[in-house]
Amino acid sequence: MSDRLNSLVRIPCRAALAALFLAGACSQPKTSPSPSSGSDKASIVRNFNQVYYESMVWADTHWLGVPSQQNPCDNWMMQQIIAEVKPDYIIETGTASGGTTLFYAVVLGLVNETGRIITVDIEPRVAEASKFPLFRKKVEVITSDSTAPELLKKLSDRVRGRKVLVTLDSWHKKEHVLKELRLYSKLVSKGSYLVVQDTNVNGNPVRPNHGEGPNEALQEFLKETDAFVIDKSREKFLLTFYPSGYLKKVR
Ligand SMILES: C[S@@+](CC[C@H](N)C(=O)[O-])C[C@H]1O[C@@H](n2cnc3c(N)ncnc32)[C@H](O)[C@@H]1O
Repeated sequence: MSDRLNSLVRIPCRAALAALFLAGACSQPKTSPSPSSGSDKASIVRNFNQVYYESMVWADTHWLGVPSQQNPCDNWMMQQIIAEVKPDYIIETGTASGGTTLFYAVVLGLVNETGRIITVDIEPRVAEASKFPLFRKKVEVITSDSTAPELLKKLSDRVRGRKVLVTLDSWHKKEHVLKELRLYSKLVSKGSYLVVQDTNVNGNPVRPNHGEGPNEALQEFLKETDAFVIDKSREKFLLTFYPSGYLKKVR
């Protein structure tokens, strides 16, 4: 079908669908159904988070054609945080294909022209992301274990005195994440965030057989410091892979 014919067919179909929708909407009772109780809502949210995660759609999610292993709600919240904090540096551990890095780069580019991203992966795969001039301009990709002492020295020299946001998404084992938390927390500036990704695994509420991971690391880390608080307001979109994982640096 030609594009023109296609559009001629499509427009009346859309109009018909809109009319049907409005007719349906108008025939609904004016009052809303009775609201679910608090515990119903909590279990609906928990179930939806499980259904969403288990669908594996996050493994087939892209930003500008590059895989971003995230859900849109967390990426949207990261956009809000980046727009509020306007960091000079975003440090990300766990680059993978760099689709999420590219997303941060686009947002950062709009709110802080000189802002830069440093992303670390033991095995980055950024061929596609690197085709974007903005990625090449704003992102430095470092191939390293995220906890290597020489890397941390290099990072702390680079970002000292600057406004820094950190997001951790590398190896999701408790000991590794705890090590990352202890090392990278020092780089985060007051008022900014240390985001611990995939705190949802190990039954929180997904992948009950994962074993101790980011959530358990986070709980232990928070016993050691009062510099960070869990910012629950960042979970307002209800779908999140980082429950309790948006940590704000308060002192
Ligand atoms: C969950 S993926 C990252 C997904 C990516 N942030 C995204 O949003 O699309 C985890 C990444 O961590 C990397 N990784 C695993 N162990 C690591 C380590 N010790 N240090 C640095 N990166 C590591 C893996 O190579 C993998 O690319």
